[in-house]
Amino acid sequence: MASKRINTFKVVFVSLAVVAVGFIIRTPWLPIRRELKASLGYPRDSLLNFTELTAEYGYVSEEHEVVTEDGYILTMFRIVQARNCHQKKRSPPVLLVHGLLQSSDSFIDSGPNAGLAYLISDACYDLWLGNVRGNYYSRGHTRLDPNKDPKYWKFYIDEIGYYDIPAMIDHVLDYTGNDKLNYIGFSQGSGTFLVMCSERPSYCEKVQLLIGLAPAARQFNTKSKLFRTLTQTFEVLEGPLENYGLVEVFSKGAVSQEFVAFFCQLSHFTGKLCEQVLDVFDYVDSSHLGSITNETTRVLFGHFPAGTSLHNMARYGQSMKSKRFEKFNYGKEKNLVMYGSEEPPRYNLSAVTAPVVCIYGSNDGLVDTKDVEWLVGKIPNVIESIKVEDPLWNHMDVTYSQYTSDTIFPKINEYLLKYTSA
Ligand SMILES: *[C@@H]1O[C@H](CO)[C@@H](O)[C@H](O)[C@H]1NC(C)=O
Ligand SMILES: *[C@@H]1O[C@H](CO)[C@@H](O)[C@H](O)[C@H]1NC(C)=O
Ligand SMILES: *[C@@H]1O[C@H](CO)[C@@H](O)[C@H](O)[C@H]1NC(C)=O
Repeated sequence: MASKRINTFKVVFVSLAVVAVGFIIRTPWLPIRRELKASLGYPRDSLLNFTELTAEYGYVSEEHEVVTEDGYILTMFRIVQARNCHQKKRSPPVLLVHGLLQSSDSFIDSGPNAGLAYLISDACYDLWLGNVRGNYYSRGHTRLDPNKDPKYWKFYIDEIGYYDIPAMIDHVLDYTGNDKLNYIGFSQGSGTFLVMCSERPSYCEKVQLLIGLAPAARQFNTKSKLFRTLTQTFEVLEGPLENYGLVEVFSKGAVSQEFVAFFCQLSHFTGKLCEQVLDVFDYVDSSHLGSITNETTRVLFGHFPAGTSLHNMARYGQSMKSKRFEKFNYGKEKNLVMYGSEEPPRYNLSAVTAPVVCIYGSNDGLVDTKDVEWLVGKIPNVIESIKVEDPLWNHMDVTYSQYTSDTIFPKINEYLLKYTSA
């Protein structure tokens, strides 16, 4: 029995290692051409980009390019016409930002009845969607070549919060002529917002309301063993992988991403399996099977994972071990040089002056309830902190569940309305 268990362990370990390495390696013949995939029976939606996919369902979107102060070129989308909104758009605009390894597509993958981008724009808000540095929409730079310059990939949530979020806010405000907007961040999309408020408080003042969906700040209590193991493995391997120039991870077009996309859309059975893997990622003990439909699973793996830097993944490994929400930890000696103290400084959560609404699930294995409650205790202006009623609501549900319109959208809508003028 014991040896059988060890063998099973070996098989699982080796498979995981192979998949993980495949997420780093890009091969010249990939990404596989779209026409070929279509002929192989991939669902059409999984092959479309944001503008194309929203158009498919009767929404009109625009593409915007934004350049950050440090030269990263980001793509934003704006839904200019929603299928079910027949009145003038409400103001101010709403900026919606995705989580780790996602892109703006994560808010449309579950289709027009559940995707938050559809629900929010149908309620006539002027909706903008961000994409942060390193994902497939925002993989450009004015000077650095992401394929050749490892320097491009030297970023963490710290830079995303310091440069990307402010650049996107500026663009939306300049373009629309508003002086404030409402911000919705999922997971890392909220964590980076908090970084911004701490480091650049004047940007926090441009935001009327923050809605934090499973906001990721401290990760001390994260239950997902798979996520912990993964990020801590990257932390350990950061130096060696960097030496080999392997600094972009989980990108679209990596061998494993192509394989997973192929496997997950192959049949209902493999689709189901992929949903189970998503759930295991979230939290092994009690999955929420059924909340993510087969159709969504088949589509989402065409857009996920969307890519980030090795360094950003490794930094999550650091976060898992810290009871604080703090800046990047270089190690004692370099911290002294960089920060003048052995410990990295904490982010100043008192500087998050905007009104905040938090919405989170009790079965979230990536952003634990305890850490959200800790965060809520640190932010001065939390107007409401809402635990989703469904006891099985987990992290993946926020973007991919078919039930968002009953579970989280009503609260989002209530607060957006409250912070909107006619
Ligand atoms: C999305 O697809 C359209 C139509 O094929 C194309 O014009 C556009 O450049 C694409 N956008 C992005 C960001 O890839
Ligand atoms: C989802 O998969 C199940 C099998 O696991 C199948 O019976 C069902 O028809 C599928 N649903 C849809 C909408 O394709
Ligand atoms: C944190 O932010 C608050 C509110 O803006 C400010 O009063 C305080 O001085 C800041 N603390 C630090 C250590 O910068």
